[in-house]
Amino acid sequence: MECEADRKRVTEAFRTFLSSYDMENSDIKRKAVHTLKTAENCVLIAESAGKDTGLAWLIGMLHDLGRFPQVTEFNTFWDASSVDHAALGADILFKGGYIRNFTDCEACFPVIEKAVRFHSAYELPDDLTDEERTYCNIIRDGDKLDIFRVFASAKPEEIFKTSRENLLSSSVSDEVMEQIRKRRTVKHALKKTPADRFAGIAALGFELKYPVTQSLARGRGDLDRYLSIEFTNKDTDKKRKEIRALLGL
Ligand SMILES: [Fe+2]
Repeated sequence: MECEADRKRVTEAFRTFLSSYDMENSDIKRKAVHTLKTAENCVLIAESAGKDTGLAWLIGMLHDLGRFPQVTEFNTFWDASSVDHAALGADILFKGGYIRNFTDCEACFPVIEKAVRFHSAYELPDDLTDEERTYCNIIRDGDKLDIFRVFASAKPEEIFKTSRENLLSSSVSDEVMEQIRKRRTVKHALKKTPADRFAGIAALGFELKYPVTQSLARGRGDLDRYLSIEFTNKDTDKKRKEIRALLGL
């Protein structure tokens, strides 16, 4: 599949999409930057996998469209208490033909739709074509890589919407640790405390599919930086060190 993503057109259309949102809102701004960085990550991953870098970049640019209405309406990025932002993004693009602002490559529509819809799903559905699965995996890796950058650089209280003290004194639930010890990502429903959510982000490191993503994650050092914060809760701090070791950091 060769997708001639017109970068200028896509960037312009993304800017037009953003113009209906409040760019003074730090959450909106953060997601706009995250979108651009994720798209660049997708290019690096597609390149190393011998896949179409134009299509991978386009999917990166489109993957989080649902975040903007989500945070505007609900003031949260927590899907469980608002909407499935990935499904919302796919619906925005494909229910009324909004995708045509970005590309006319109809052959790519099914791949783009699936990749956007399932980029943050706990597991991919079984009925994807090989091509759909590949681009789903590319965006999932590219997204995680940038999530590590975001979480390593932002203040925990901004990201977790709780005070720093609250985060650092909170505990990690047994069910969350159980998943992590199996080197699995953590389902949202299991995350009950701020420290659970902290640990859940780190656990994304277990599911990087491509060797290039693993080496970029290691080389950039974001996950390492993220996991160097010291918890005042002794048990949580012990678990933080255990998670680091499990991730080979
Ligand atoms: Fe997302």
